[in-house]
Amino acid sequence: MRPYVHGYDNIESGRLRDQADTLADLLHHDSVYPPGAHILEAGCGVGAQTIHLAGRNPHAVITSVDISADSLAQAQSAIDARGIRNVTFQQADLLHLPFETQRFDHVFVCFVLEHLPDPAQALRALLPMLKPGGTITAIEGDHGSAYYHPASEAAQRCIKCLVELQARIGGDSLIGRQLYPLLLNAGYRQVAVSPRMVYVDDSRPDLVQGFTRNTFTAMVAGVRDQALAASLIDPASWERGIADLRRTADGGGTFCYTFFKGTGVAAE
Ligand SMILES: C[S@@+](CC[C@H](N)C(=O)[O-])C[C@H]1O[C@@H](n2cnc3c(N)ncnc32)[C@H](O)[C@@H]1O
Repeated sequence: MRPYVHGYDNIESGRLRDQADTLADLLHHDSVYPPGAHILEAGCGVGAQTIHLAGRNPHAVITSVDISADSLAQAQSAIDARGIRNVTFQQADLLHLPFETQRFDHVFVCFVLEHLPDPAQALRALLPMLKPGGTITAIEGDHGSAYYHPASEAAQRCIKCLVELQARIGGDSLIGRQLYPLLLNAGYRQVAVSPRMVYVDDSRPDLVQGFTRNTFTAMVAGVRDQALAASLIDPASWERGIADLRRTADGGGTFCYTFFKGTGVAAE
């Protein structure tokens, strides 16, 4: 299995769930497919998005795959705990899926392409899974889209450490802005990208906690040891940057971040 910059520990599993729950309406209000649709979720992780996908599509048939057996076990528990019955999990590499071609009406891939060395290859590998006229949804963030008040050079340096570490293991955390050309060049038709901006201020304590603190700042703070080990930053600058990121979640702070939701259609 390839290294994954955020790791597979319990803190990261909780962060993925916080992220999914906080962003569910913003990202998934339109993740709705016809009853009976067969949906393939590629890279489901601990099932954080699966829960929302299944919740919004109770009459769809969902197959969720991931390369990590541990994550799949957590995903299965999460689904069982909610009494969800329309999801089947399977361990598989999305680059070499064990399904016959043209099996699915829809492919759903969320926060996965950013971790792959060749996201175009992944999108090309997913295309034959779709029936003619079937659709894909790809959702990604873009760490270059983060801006906040109070502004901070030190915080910016911490974010750049994460971007650099992810790039060093073959990922790309600036991928959101690339979804349109990626989908188009992979062979999808009618490609459209919808930017989804999270804006957080004191009037939204749920987002202050769920997004600024528990999703974004937690994600950056999580690579502290890797950033210091790689000498990308000195410890004092790191602590200052993380403190400044946390400051944006205190009274008077604000935070903006943009996700990108791309859709495309397989040729008829
Ligand atoms: C950031 S997690 C996102 C999980 C989930 N989609 C979510 O949004 O919470 C990325 C997931 O992609 C999985 N992954 C990475 N490469 C994969 C591959 N080649 N095939 C299947 N899954 C893969 C990882 O194991 C991990 O669970």
